[in-house]
Amino acid sequence: MTPQDPRLAVVGSLNVDVVVHVARLPQPGETVMGGDVARFAGGKGANQAAAAARLGARTTMVGAVGDDEAGSWLVEELASRGVDVSRVSRRARPTGTALITVDDRGENVIVVAPGANGDVAIPDVGLEEFDVVLAQLETPLAVVDEVARRARSFVLNVAPSASVDPATLARCAVVIANETEAATLDLASLAHCIVTLGARGAVHYHFGREVARASALVVDTVDTVGAGDVFCAAYATQYARGVEPREALRFAAAAGSLATRAPGAQGALPTRTEVESWLARVS
Ligand code: RIB
Repeated sequence: MTPQDPRLAVVGSLNVDVVVHVARLPQPGETVMGGDVARFAGGKGANQAAAAARLGARTTMVGAVGDDEAGSWLVEELASRGVDVSRVSRRARPTGTALITVDDRGENVIVVAPGANGDVAIPDVGLEEFDVVLAQLETPLAVVDEVARRARSFVLNVAPSASVDPATLARCAVVIANETEAATLDLASLAHCIVTLGARGAVHYHFGREVARASALVVDTVDTVGAGDVFCAAYATQYARGVEPREALRFAAAAGSLATRAPGAQGALPTRTEVESWLARVS
């Protein structure tokens, strides 16, 4: 990273991901047998921060973990990935935990116990110092509203779905949603909304009108957990660099694809050079 690289703050969750692989996801009321349990560093916020740092943004995480072993581990992990963790606070609640089941096709279902993520507070230090602030919805909505008011430029990943104040959505430079989340939004009211389509890529809407579309890369997918987070981090990083929106979309779709090639939400974070060289190969 250099002083020319953008400064990004990610306000969001840090979770321990407890993951089990199954042949197929269970139906309600059904029990299925799975493989060995695995533990990964996760949380939409931490995944996005780690991905942004890997892509070359000078990244600061704003969040909270519990005063427990899991919290220490998550903070150390994130710091080892080059993220400034000085604004991650410790709370007297358990560290956030996500229970994740992944099937043979790489599809997943996730239940999050937010724990300390529910106690995130926006520190007095100015969010205004960052080129872009990126947030999601695994922290209290009041925090997201406050961030939207204070950020110079705000990118919101509306995941998981929640009822966001229209005033907050109106303050977003860009809203990013998957197809399920987008179904809860009034796209026509949003200046810039990007809808991710998994293996089908992503679409950029301007007040509900499609203005750009990008394909995903064809890769050997192992685990899609966190791919959307890498997409968000990549788009926000390119946006902060002043990259033209169509190119930023293409870059983000490629980065999200590359993130699926290893287990764990942070297991295959691509560098900027890696994304660019894949894009050069397919163009
Ligand atoms: O987006 C993937 C993330 O969602 C996982 O890492 C899990 O922690 C949940 O927050």
